[in-house]
Parts: sequence; structure tokens; C-alpha cells
Amino acid sequence: MNSKKRGMLEGKKSYLFDANKELINTYNTVKNNPYELIEILKEFQNKHSHDFYYEIRAMDRENSFTSLPDAMRSARFIYLNKTCFNGLYRVNSKGFYNVPMGRYKNPAICDKSTMLSASRALKDAEVLHVDFAKVLDFAKKGDFVYFDPPYYPLTPTSSFTSYNQDIFFRR
Ligand SMILES: C[S@@+](CC[C@H](N)C(=O)[O-])C[C@H]1O[C@@H](n2cnc3c(N)ncnc32)[C@H](O)[C@@H]1O
Repeated sequence: MNSKKRGMLEGKKSYLFDANKELINTYNTVKNNPYELIEILKEFQNKHSHDFYYEIRAMDRENSFTSLPDAMRSARFIYLNKTCFNGLYRVNSKGFYNVPMGRYKNPAICDKSTMLSASRALKDAEVLHVDFAKVLDFAKKGDFVYFDPPYYPLTPTSSFTSYNQDIFFRR
């Protein structure tokens, strides 16, 4: 975002990849449909409670989850990110999100101006649900490539690398 602000990416195309489908869907909704997303997040902000958190968290257990509108799934992703324990993204072996609710007095669930700035910043970016190894299909000599892999666990019992069911290895 800072390089974008300083004009360093002016007229340049960028690609953002991630193996987490929900994350990529959210970036694309922020980019292409921020106003609908803001409206849903406003509603979630008003409804926020312990029971509402677990209701939203359980949505991915339903077969209909993948056919929900992109903006609804994106609002769920942002809502959980803003209200869960430590902003973690962790799923179980079935791919169901399982982070407990965090303890925040006033979580910023709907931040309209940040959302609109992010939407503008993403305009020249192509956001794709692909494995990092595919970078070789896109990058040319002289391109800047940045990898932001999951944190390697410091102890065998720490499991905070669980952004999705798989890990950051070439599949
Ligand atoms: C430290 S996080 C980076 C988060 C991301 N940069 C963002 O802005 O939200 C590590 C990311 O690596 C992704 N990841 C794990 N294995 C991957 C793979 N094989 N290919 C692409 N992304 C992968 C995870 O889904 C997770 O989002």
C-alpha cells in the first residue's frame, strides 16, 4: 500500500496470489464491489454478539455456503477477522473455520474509508486463487516478487500456520 501511495506502482500491473479461497474472494469483493460489502458489514456491526459470532462462524458447515453471494462470504471473512481471537485464520481438517470469539470492546467491523482506499489500491492488481509456485508462469526478469509465507511454528504444539488445510509447500 505504501509503494502504491508513493506512486511506485503507477501504470504497473501487479498480481496477488493466495491458496485461501475465502481470502481471495474477499480481496476481489473489496476491489470490485466495496459498497455492497460495506452495507452487509454495517448490518453485521449492529448485530454483533456472542451468538451472532457463532452463527456466522457456522455458515461454512452448510452445503449452501459456496453458493452464497461473494459479498456475503467476504463480509463473513472480514467480520470473523475483526472479532475472532487474535485475528487468526484457522480451519480444521474438514476446512471449517474454528477460531473462538475474541474479547474486543468495540471491534471496527465496518471501516468504510479504509475499505474504499483498499478498493482503489487494488484497481491495477489481479487477485488470483493459485498456488505460489505459479508465480513462475507470471513473473518476468526484473519483476519484484514478494513471498509472505505462513509463520513456521516455533514449537511442535503451536499451530498458528493453519491459514488453510495445506501448508506452504509446492503441491
Ligand atoms: C502470513 S499469511 C499472509 C497473508 C496475506 N499476505 C494477506 O495479506 O492476508 C500466509 C499466507 O500463505 C498462504 N498460503 C499457504 N500455502 C500457500 C501456497 N501453497 N500457495 C499460495 N499461498 C499459500 C495462506 O493461505 C496465507 O494466507
